[in-house]
Amino acid sequence: MSPKGVRLPLLRPRLRQRAGGTRPRKKTLNRLLEDRTIEQLSYDQYRQRVRHVYDGPQGAILALCSFLSLHTPLGERLLRTRRFDLRGCKRILDVGCGAGQILGHLLKYADPDAQIFCFDISPAMVRRARRRIRNPRPQFLVADLTRLPFATETFDCITCGYVLEHLPDARLGLQELARVMTPGAKMLLLTTEDNFGGAWTSRVWHCRTYNRQELQQMCHELGLEWVQELWYTRIHKLLRAGGICVELRKKD
Ligand SMILES: C[S@@+](CC[C@H](N)C(=O)[O-])C[C@H]1O[C@@H](n2cnc3c(N)ncnc32)[C@H](O)[C@@H]1O
Repeated sequence: MSPKGVRLPLLRPRLRQRAGGTRPRKKTLNRLLEDRTIEQLSYDQYRQRVRHVYDGPQGAILALCSFLSLHTPLGERLLRTRRFDLRGCKRILDVGCGAGQILGHLLKYADPDAQIFCFDISPAMVRRARRRIRNPRPQFLVADLTRLPFATETFDCITCGYVLEHLPDARLGLQELARVMTPGAKMLLLTTEDNFGGAWTSRVWHCRTYNRQELQQMCHELGLEWVQELWYTRIHKLLRAGGICVELRKKD
């Protein structure tokens, strides 16, 4: 049983075996479609590449893409309806803020006295977010998710939207996020899943995808309990679209 008495979805034995041992096999089409850049470069080289992509024209149209794909309005709904509840959170970190898509929602729905921090690896994205948001409240930083410039146990809430797929191994980012979370802190994690839609996303944004069960197992090993799986809409749930969207909680 998880905190608050929420029953956690149990891994089926076959998946449990896969998560701990051999990697789950992706469907052939998805495997062919998926971008391979992240596997072919060292993390340092890939990080430079990500920065370059988001500093450039693709980063300049990121806010528009998020709006057209409905991620921005549907993400807002998760917070407005309190399916991910920000009430009571006093130090919030938005990871890989991009053009400030999630940050804008945090400013609307977080407690008025909550401190909000956000960072991105791309200096140009940080500038764009600052310009778009036009609000003196958040503190903006340029930083890498795998090396956070924050003390241990600083934040009681984290939002991390579509950033983890830019790491060769989710563990690099998740353990750093777990470090800066206070015991009992919550996280809204969104990331690209290893299905057809995810393979396309990976191709456009040169990122990887994650297997849901593997990611769940990894979170569990890092002390991040999988509290609830969220879906933007019933149609997303039915079609398994929109990627992995989950509320995590750091164990007390
Ligand atoms: C697809 S955008 C997501 C933007 C926003 N979080 C959202 O949910 O719409 C991914 C962002 O993550 C940033 N990013 C990628 N790798 C990162 C890393 N290692 N550390 C910090 N930011 C990173 C990129 O620069 C980009 O702005």
